[in-house]
Amino acid sequence: MCPPAHFRVAYCINPWMDPRKPVDPAIALFQWEDLRDRYRALGHTVEILDPEPGLPDMVFAANGATVVDGRVLGAKFANPERAAEAPAHLAWFRARAVGFADIREPEHVNEAEGDFAVTSSWLLAGQGFRSSPLAHDEAQEFFGRPVISLELTDPRYYHLDTALAVLDDAADEIMYYPGAFSPGSRQVLARLFPDALLATAEDAAVFGLNAVSDGLHVLLPREAAGLAAALRERGYEPLGVDMTEFHKAGGSVKCCTMELRPPAA
Ligand code: ARG
Repeated sequence: MCPPAHFRVAYCINPWMDPRKPVDPAIALFQWEDLRDRYRALGHTVEILDPEPGLPDMVFAANGATVVDGRVLGAKFANPERAAEAPAHLAWFRARAVGFADIREPEHVNEAEGDFAVTSSWLLAGQGFRSSPLAHDEAQEFFGRPVISLELTDPRYYHLDTALAVLDDAADEIMYYPGAFSPGSRQVLARLFPDALLATAEDAAVFGLNAVSDGLHVLLPREAAGLAAALRERGYEPLGVDMTEFHKAGGSVKCCTMELRPPAA
């Protein structure tokens, strides 16, 4: 995670961002610290990346790299405003070469976990707004995992992680909002995940899918009440988090969280 020390809405690169609706830095810090503390309370280790001035979206750490089996694929941002975040993330991994042996600087545009979601069988990969389909091939080759390309069609759901979340990466269980995907991609998702939890438009619009699950606890924005109830019915423990300041920039729980998936033991 990367603290929101320099977080603000300074430009507009997705439909949620409006520089006229400023962020309250104190509330943003409070919300971010609460999210961090909840991970720690659940027993997860949280590593901290130093925030850099001039990079107001750096708090969205999920976009900085994708780590699977301890292999690190760096990011390459679609928008110049965020370009300098990519080397900052790579430098963090390089300084910790132990555990992250294979670090790749990408050739093609990919916004990391914004558009890549890891299940036990597949790497689900979004395209349409940010990541290039060429990056999907690059990720498949690098990770040696079959990539399932999915097309996003609604600009409000410009990253895969705003429309889909992995609930159980051992059991291939996911939740998603079908309305964010092209008809063909909806069919692909229905075929691969017939038992997926489908989110309503209301829950999607409050970033309900921008969630992080450890297989039992699911941290999601607290406004996503319908989704929380559906998760509880399935045996998960939903934990509502207040992330309103980050919603102003088009991100929530998952965007603020990069998952460091270690090598298989
Ligand atoms: N303002 C950021 C952008 O538009 C938000 C990124 C949200 N991150 C995410 N993983 N969806 O790039």
